[in-house]
Amino acid sequence: MYLIIDNTQNNNKLHGELEVPGDKSISHRACILGAISKGTTIIKGIAPGRDVNATKKCLERLGANIRNENKKTIFISSTLSEPENILDAENSGTTARLLLGLLSGLNLFSCITGDSSLNKRPMDRVINPLLELGKVVKSRNNNTLLPATVIPTSYDTKKTHIFTKIASAQVKSALLLASLNSTKNITITEPQITRDHTERILKFFGCNISSAKNSICNNITIYSKQISNLYGQTFDVPGDISSAAFLIGAGILVPNSQVRLNNVGLNPTRIGFLNILTKMGAEISITNKQVMSGEPRGNITAKYTQNINNIKLKKEDIPDAIDELPLLAVIATQAHGTTEITGAKELRFKESDRIQAIKTELKKMGAKIEELYDGLTVTGPTPLKGAEVNTYGDHRIAMALAIAGLIATGRTVIHSADCIDISYPSFQTDLQKLGASVE
Ligand code: S3P
Repeated sequence: MYLIIDNTQNNNKLHGELEVPGDKSISHRACILGAISKGTTIIKGIAPGRDVNATKKCLERLGANIRNENKKTIFISSTLSEPENILDAENSGTTARLLLGLLSGLNLFSCITGDSSLNKRPMDRVINPLLELGKVVKSRNNNTLLPATVIPTSYDTKKTHIFTKIASAQVKSALLLASLNSTKNITITEPQITRDHTERILKFFGCNISSAKNSICNNITIYSKQISNLYGQTFDVPGDISSAAFLIGAGILVPNSQVRLNNVGLNPTRIGFLNILTKMGAEISITNKQVMSGEPRGNITAKYTQNINNIKLKKEDIPDAIDELPLLAVIATQAHGTTEITGAKELRFKESDRIQAIKTELKKMGAKIEELYDGLTVTGPTPLKGAEVNTYGDHRIAMALAIAGLIATGRTVIHSADCIDISYPSFQTDLQKLGASVE
C-alpha cells in the first residue's frame, strides 16, 4: 500500500480536535495483567493496532478468554496453561520480550517466535537477565534471537537483585513479570529511568511493588508471590502519546494549523517529546489534566510555530522520547541551527535501524541530515521537496515521513505504508479529518 501526501496546491492546513487510539505500551500490559489476574478485567480504549492484537492472540493460545465487547472494549478472564502450539509475536518486540518474562515466571513450557523483522532483533537483552534470575530460556543464535523456548524450572530465584545493562522498559517489564511468582523479594536496578507503565499497572491490579528513583538509576522492588494479589479491574487506556506526536508535529510544522488531541496519556516517563518541543519554542499547551487507572492524561493543543530553535539531546534525554526521535528529526529540518541527537544507539534496534532509515529517506526529500553512530545531526531550516520514500516496514518511519510530506513541495509517495497498522490504523483518516490531503 502507498500513502500519498499531496501538497501540490501547497494548501495543507490542519485544524480541529480528535482522540487518537489507545496507548500501545499500556494496552499490551493491560491484556497481560487481565490474563493473569483472578476474575474478569474490562479494558476500555484498547489500542487497535496489529502489535496489541499479537499479544491478545498469544494470550488466547495460553488459555485466555477474550471477548470483544466493541471495537474499543474487551473482557479478559483466564487461567493460563502450557500452550499447545508456538506463540507468534509477529512484529511486536514488546509482545515477545514481555511474554518471555511472564512465561519464565509462570514456569510454562512455551516457544515464542516472530516475523522476519522481529526475528532479527536482539533478545539476549531479556534472556541474559532471566538466566541470571535462574530461569531457563534457550534460543536461536547462541541465545540471542527468536525463536526462544522457555523451560520450566524452580520458582526459587538464584539472585534477588538484577542490574539491567540497557535502559529498556521491555527488559525491566520482562523481569518484573518473571518475578511475580518468586519466593523472594526481587529488586531490579535500571541504568536510567524508563517508561513505568508496568510498575503502575501492577500496583493498580493489587501488586506490592515499590520504586526508589535517584538521578543516576531506578530501583524497583517487587515483593514475593505477588501473583496471588492480582485481581481483575476495569482499566481505562489513555490515548497514545506516541501516535498523538505525529499530529502534534503536523500542527507545529504546517502553516496556519492548530490541532487539539483529547485524552492523551501524559505519563512523565513518556512526555520527553513534549518537553523537547517546548524547549525548541513550539507552541504547545496542556489542559484538563487528570489521572485515570493510575496513568495521567490530558488534552494537548499544538499550534503552528514559525520559529523553532535547534536542540542538543544527550543520553539522559533519550528514554522518555525514544519512539518520537524519527519525527523529531523531521521537525529539526525546520528548526534554526543544527540539532544533535546523541546517546540514542537504541534507535538502531527498533522495527528498523531508525537512524539509518530516517537519514536516508529525509535526504531524498532534501534534508541536511547526517548519521552518527549513536544518533543524528539535522541542520535547518531547509525546505523539503516531495519524493518517493520507503518505510523499511517500520510504522514510525512511515508516519514521520508522512508529516515531512505535509510540509514538502509537491507529492510525497510513501511505499509499503501498510505497516502504519502496527500502531495507528486510523492515521490516514485522522489526518484527513484534520483537513490534510492524504490518499
Ligand atoms: C516499549 C518500550 C520501548 C519502546 C517500544 C515500546 C514498551 O522499547 O521503544 O516501542 O512498551 O515497553 P525499549 O524498552 O526496548 O526501549
